[in-house]
This record gives sequence, C-alpha cells and structure tokens, in this order.
Amino acid sequence: MKKQMKVFVLVVVMVAGVIMEGTEGRKGKIAGSLEYSAISCRAHSASILDFGGVGDGVTLNTQAFRSAVDHLSQFQSDGGAQLFVPAGKWLTGSFNLTSHFTLYLHQDAVILASQEINTWAVIDPLPSYGHGRDAAGGRYISLIFGTNLTDVVITGENGTVDGQGLVWWQQFKKKKLKYTRPYLLEIMHSDNIQISNLTFLNSPSWNIHPVYTSNIIIQGITILAPITSPNTDGINPDSCTNTRIEDTYIVSGDDCIAVKSGWDEYGINYGMPTKHLIIRRLTCISPYSAAIALGSEMSGGIQDVRADDITAIQTESAVRIKTGVGRGGYVKDIFVKNMKLHTMKWVFWITGNYGSHADTHFDPNALPEIKGINYRDIVAENVTMAARLEGISGDPFTGICIYNATIGLSKKPKKYQWTCSDVEGVTGAVVPPPCALLPPTQVDEKFGMCDFPSDSLAIDSVELQKCSFEMNLF
Ligand SMILES: *[C@@H]1O[C@H](CO)[C@@H](O)[C@H](O)[C@H]1NC(C)=O
Ligand SMILES: *[C@@H]1O[C@H](CO)[C@@H](O)[C@H](O)[C@H]1NC(C)=O
Ligand SMILES: *[C@@H]1O[C@H](CO)[C@@H](O)[C@H](O)[C@H]1NC(C)=O
Ligand SMILES: *[C@@H]1O[C@H](CO)[C@@H](O)[C@H](O)[C@H]1NC(C)=O
Ligand SMILES: *[C@@H]1O[C@H](CO)[C@@H](O)[C@H](O)[C@H]1NC(C)=O
Ligand SMILES: *[C@@H]1O[C@H](CO)[C@@H](O)[C@H](O)[C@H]1NC(C)=O
Repeated sequence: MKKQMKVFVLVVVMVAGVIMEGTEGRKGKIAGSLEYSAISCRAHSASILDFGGVGDGVTLNTQAFRSAVDHLSQFQSDGGAQLFVPAGKWLTGSFNLTSHFTLYLHQDAVILASQEINTWAVIDPLPSYGHGRDAAGGRYISLIFGTNLTDVVITGENGTVDGQGLVWWQQFKKKKLKYTRPYLLEIMHSDNIQISNLTFLNSPSWNIHPVYTSNIIIQGITILAPITSPNTDGINPDSCTNTRIEDTYIVSGDDCIAVKSGWDEYGINYGMPTKHLIIRRLTCISPYSAAIALGSEMSGGIQDVRADDITAIQTESAVRIKTGVGRGGYVKDIFVKNMKLHTMKWVFWITGNYGSHADTHFDPNALPEIKGINYRDIVAENVTMAARLEGISGDPFTGICIYNATIGLSKKPKKYQWTCSDVEGVTGAVVPPPCALLPPTQVDEKFGMCDFPSDSLAIDSVELQKCSFEMNLF
C-alpha cells in the first residue's frame, strides 16, 4: 500500500483558504497547505471527497465518513492520519473515530446530522448510569463517536457540527422516544483528546460528552442552541481526569458546563470520579440553568475543579451543586475565582434535594459528601437573590468559603437575600451580608481566604504543536 494517498488536491486547494505555492520541486507534486495547532501532527492526509463525499446538504455521507475512518485507521501505527472536510454541507448519520486521527473541518464546512431517527444505531446505557437519561433502555449513538481510543483531534477553523435537533426536541417533548437522544460528540474510555476551534449547533441533547477519558483539551469552542431546547448542555466531562476547557462561548437550554460522574447506585459501583478539571475563560448564556453545574449525577465523585474567569449573562445561577440522598459520592476541593455575572436568579446555589433518580433501587443511606467549596472575587449585577444554599439534614455541606463578592441587586430583589440550611462555612467581604451559618471571618493576611490552588495541573503543561495539513498528488 502506498503511503501517499490519492487526493483531489485541486478541489482542496480551491477551498483550503490558505494556499501555498501551487507546485513544488518534484514534477507534478502539488501541495495545498493549512496550519493548525494540535497535540500531535499526522503523517497521512485524505479528504472526505476521496471517499465519495458530496457536500450538497442532501446526499447522505454516512458511508463516506465510515469508509474514510476505516481506511485511515490503518495508519494508526504509521504516523496517524488526518481527514479533511472541505467547505460544503455534509449530511451524515453517526460515524466512529479511530486512534492517532485528526478530523479537520474547513471554516465553511458544516457536518449536518441526519434527522432520520430510525436510522440511528442504539448502544447500551453507560455502566455508571445503568439507564439512559431520557428513557430506561439504550441510547442512540452520538453523531461523532469514539471509544477505546488514544490521540484524537477534532478541530478546524471554526467549522460547524449542526445536530439539527428540532425533530429530536419535538419527539422528546411528546414523550415519543424509545431511547435516550444522541449527543453531537461522545468520546468514551479514551486518552489524549483535543476538541478545538469548532462551532456546535442545535444538538439533540448534550453537545460534547467525554466520559471515562483522561487528558482532554477543549479550546475555542462555540456552542449554540435555543435557550428553551431540552437538555442541550454544552460540555459534560463525566468520570474524566485531567481536563482543560478554555476560551469557550456557550448559549444553551441547559447547563453550559455540567461536571458529572455517574448516577446513584450505578455511579457508586462504577466509582470513577471527575477530577483535575480546569475551566477558564468561559462565557455562558443560559436563562434556565447554570454556567457550571456540579452534578446532579456525581455518584463517582467530583474533586479538584478550578474555574477561573467565568462570565455569565442572563444565566439562572453561577456554579451550582446539585445532589441528593441516594447519590452517594462527593463534591470536594472546588475552587472558583473571578466571575463576572449579569442578570442572575441566584449567584450561589447548592441543592441537596435534587431527586431525579435512575430507578427506585437507590440506597437511601448513600449520602453525598460536599466539602471544601471555595468562591472568591465575584462581581454580580442585577441579581434577584444572592444565595440559596440547602444541604441535607443530618449530612451538612461543610467548608463553604466565600470571599470578596459584591452582588448588586435587581429592581425587585427578594427580601431575604440568603437562605441557608444544613451548610457550614465562612465568608469575608461579601455584600449583601450572608446568612448566620456562614459568618464573617477575619481574613488571614498570610494565607488569604478561599484561595485558588497555586500548583499547576499536568494538563496545563501540554503544549500544542504546529501542524500543517498538506495534500500531495503524485
Ligand atoms: C484556534 O484558533 C485561534 C485563532 O485562529 C488560534 O490562535 C489557535 O491556535 C487555534 N487553536 C487550536 C487549538 O487550533
Ligand atoms: C461504532 O462503535 C460502536 C461501539 O463500539 C459500535 O457499536 C458501532 O457498531 C460502531 N459503528 C460503526 C459504524 O462501526
Ligand atoms: C474499552 O475499554 C473499557 C475500559 O477499559 C473495557 O472495559 C472495554 O472492554 C473496552 N472495549 C473494547 C471494545 O475494547
Ligand atoms: C465561530 O462561529 C460562530 C458561529 O457562527 C461565531 O458565533 C463565533 O464568533 C465564531 N468564532 C470565531 C473565533 O470566529
Ligand atoms: C476582589 O475582586 C475583584 C473583582 O474580581 C478584584 O478586582 C479584586 O482584586 C479583589 N480583591 C481582593 C482583595 O482580592
Ligand atoms: C435585570 O433582570 C431582570 C430580571 O430579573 C430583567 O428583566 C432585566 O432586563 C434586567 N435588567 C438589565 C438592565 O439587564
């Protein structure tokens, strides 16, 4: 098998945007070149056009994507391969990714999800959930899916993945779906993943779902869905270790980022936490949900989350913890700093009676441990109520620390700005004055208060390489 693959370079060159000199030394060799940053570069390249792809928005490209990935998977141990998706509208059903692989979308490429619900394959529920989220049985496979992979990059010049979710939202609202709705991108049991510089539109449900995965960089992503669309969470790191989500803009019908780790007894048994998660430079608009939610599925535990530079506009709450009796697990060592908030129902919201159980078999003695929740440097405007903090009776949520928060109220604020029950902690320099359960404390000059960790996480030292995308014709 020849290493160089035949490609329709002229077409690629026409759409490539950045074009280097047309011809190089060797006779007949033409190179189109693009540059991008990635965790690793690839030795082999192909275009979806090589596999019969047609970008007219009507022709179904499922087979083209599947053949392309099948073919390029042979280069896994030979430098890896990148698949280029040129400008156009590429209608497709679900396809799987492979290892040492880059999917690169041109800026005017739109991957359009097929709306034929009956053509979507059904896969098993996640072991840490035991059930689908919409219906008890299986789940429709995600549009772009990968499992047991290493070294995968999904990127490109702000190209688009459009879930065309309307039909799914309608069927869901009519309770007509037999299985859980698909996500736009799900990566399971994998390692070394990059998702960058893309726009995700109108997902049928959650947008980006890395699960049981480690070493993930998500950067420069725009996620847009109607603010009333059901469960269109932006990014859901679920039982993941070492994740860095940065420079992301999300408008959605559910939590912009929802940190998870499995559901009730299934999550407790699976026992895989989400830990070492960085979220920075997030902008969120989500009037009925949180900028960042921790839970409600947190039964495998959530630990060491560091959120910095968070802007939320017209969002229900900022960083919300959702849990309940039966969840078990823990949420601890959570650090949030530098939030700018505008128009919000509750700045601080912790819910200990979330309900929403996988089934009736949950263990009523499985109480979550919520401890070490730190918020600092917060400016909010036009807020209805500063805080609603509700722990669980007999299971207080402890170590809540709030420092340097100035909360400006709306024209019709609630009379009581703080309601607190079954919580313990301290505050400093917080306006309006907090509830009695979070008394003001003298700030330690030396150690500060509610401080952000000063060490850096391994995922932060991953440097991206400059890759170029060259397509050669013999
Ligand atoms: C994303 O795009 C920006 C702006 O074009 C660029 O600076 C950055 O390197 C890109 N990042 C990745 C990971 O491709
Ligand atoms: C994609 O992967 C899933 C899980 O391994 C599998 O069930 C499905 O058949 C694969 N789809 C294709 C088209 O290979
Ligand atoms: C994928 O990885 C998981 C977790 O290690 C393992 O249980 C499963 O058998 C693997 N699946 C395949 C298809 O290799
Ligand atoms: C990417 O595209 C989206 C949707 O058109 C747009 O809102 C966003 O500003 C674009 N991002 C960049 C970095 O160009
Ligand atoms: C308080 O928060 C504001 C806004 O984030 C910040 O500019 C200021 O430096 C903080 N003050 C202290 C003493 O940390
Ligand atoms: C303030 O919040 C209210 C909702 O509580 C909203 O209707 C109003 O438009 C907001 N005002 C500004 C100036 O954003």
